[in-house]
Amino acid sequence: MRPTPQAPEQHARPSTDFADKLARSRALLNASVTDFSPLKQASSLGAEDVVITHLINALRLDIPVFVLDTGALHHETLALLERTQAHSGASIEVYRPEHSAVIQWVRDHGQDAIYRSIDARKACCEVRKLEPLRRALQGQRAWVTGLRREQSSNRGAVEMIDKSELTTHGRIKLNPLAEWNWGDVWHYIATEGVDYNPLHDQFFPSIGCAPCTRAISLGEDFRAGRWWWEDEAAKECGLHATHVPNQNSEKAPA
Ligand code: ADX
Ligand code: SF4
Repeated sequence: MRPTPQAPEQHARPSTDFADKLARSRALLNASVTDFSPLKQASSLGAEDVVITHLINALRLDIPVFVLDTGALHHETLALLERTQAHSGASIEVYRPEHSAVIQWVRDHGQDAIYRSIDARKACCEVRKLEPLRRALQGQRAWVTGLRREQSSNRGAVEMIDKSELTTHGRIKLNPLAEWNWGDVWHYIATEGVDYNPLHDQFFPSIGCAPCTRAISLGEDFRAGRWWWEDEAAKECGLHATHVPNQNSEKAPA
């Protein structure tokens, strides 16, 4: 029988300028504590986010990490959350939706409504993700996310210091891996021995809630397994607005 594919072996392929990218990511995280505190890292426990938490720990930065546990995560993700809570130097906060709001939503719409209309799917994201996100980011000047330009065309213009949410939400978004590619992410995981979600070994490059995430097939796009029944343009849950180049974005510190 063929052994389970191991994501690090499969994907680790650093860019020729990986060392420079890593130095810029470290510089951004180091500077962020001085320039943008209070701030937190948002972690879905996907490959990008475990790299960022590892960097935060390695640099001994005072950046708490939060996870939105939507109540619909895979058991593999929840198990990784427990291991991260047990072993991370950074504090790990878990934000969950209001239980009564989730039950009311299911009573009104039924759990399968997310597959029938985009509005229903976005309403589920509002209850399970966006309301807890607002609580998680209350009083924060910035948040650190794992967005990368390579992930999708919607994200092709993501900057390391992104001010696109400044007028709408009064906060900065920091994307330390904006310029990394998938091979860079796995090169870091492989060389640093970072713990990761085993779903990545089963062809899940992008991992969200279980009802809305599937494995991808050879040749499919990175985010093809997310909300796969919807049009490409709709495939965001509202955590991140579509990124278009904007004059408010800055280059990262060298
Ligand atoms: S999503 O908008 O489609 O769900 P994606 O899964 O690509 O986003 O993740 C992008 C970034 O959003 C992650 O790197 C992380 O910073 C943040 N994020 C996504 N899901 C969560 C979650 N459940 N908890 C905390 N942060 C999350
Ligand atoms: Fe609901 Fe799916 Fe959005 Fe998760 S990703 S909050 S299950 S619609």
